[in-house]
Amino acid sequence: MKILSLSTRQDTEFPSRRPSILNLKSIDPHYYELLKGLRAKVEYKMDILNFRVLAVSSAIAGEGKTLTAINLAANMASTGRKRVLLMDVDLRKSSVARELGLAPDCGLSDFLLGSVPMEKILRNSVVPGLSVIVGGKMISSPADMLAGERFLSLLQDLKAQFDLLVLDTPPILPVPDAVTISEQVDAFILLFRFSHTPHQLFRQAIEDIGERKILGVVLNGEEKKNENYYHKYYGKYYQVAPSERKRS
Ligand SMILES: Nc1ncnc2c1ncn2[C@@H]1O[C@H](COP(=O)(O)OP(=O)(O)OP(=O)(O)O)[C@@H](O)[C@H]1O
Ligand SMILES: [Mg+2]
Repeated sequence: MKILSLSTRQDTEFPSRRPSILNLKSIDPHYYELLKGLRAKVEYKMDILNFRVLAVSSAIAGEGKTLTAINLAANMASTGRKRVLLMDVDLRKSSVARELGLAPDCGLSDFLLGSVPMEKILRNSVVPGLSVIVGGKMISSPADMLAGERFLSLLQDLKAQFDLLVLDTPPILPVPDAVTISEQVDAFILLFRFSHTPHQLFRQAIEDIGERKILGVVLNGEEKKNENYYHKYYGKYYQVAPSERKRS
């Protein structure tokens, strides 16, 4: 596992200057530069490993999954090299639709319930080359639905149409959904938010997903000077890179 390092100069509490979605260049050039670096690393790794399905996840809530998934997908699409699909797999607290200004209905959950065909849930976004599937209506058992045949076949069909699928997931520890879909996912990137995520929970999330599945860790926020938090506990990950396996 490697550190992919997106972090911001901003205060760890992310108070006022929240990077805005799809307009990073003008509003926060520093964040935009970090994001481009992250995109380049992720794209390179996905390409050499011949991976197509990337999940963006984290141990607990509020670590920056949705923001990172949207901006990473948008940035990948904007290069024009790949047909990119962003899918909201957080069926408990879907927020991709709201963040992108899309209607929240007719999304993944509606497809999984069998009420609409795939063509109905595929939307264009304002970013050329970026298609989106929003979460859809609230359903009672998201994990069971994500474990079902319909989700599996949806991913197969989407892989025929897109070069890269970016999935925004719920947090790993509170609910089983991210672990449930891990078989279907080629690789995870794991957000770690400084001064927010207890290290033992981060470690637990790595164990739950399995280190081999983790393409890298994205450090979000800023490590306090005297904190040395991540490196104290996770410095060893600089030395190992077991996730770089070739698919046969
Ligand atoms: N690097 C960052 N700089 C500033 N603000 C950030 C950064 N990362 C995330 N945020 C902000 O923190 C809040 C939580 O981010 P986000 O919704 O992406 O987290 P999440 O992990 O998807 O949360 P949840 O688990 O609840 O779905 C949002 O307001 C987001 O804009
Ligand atoms: Mg989210």
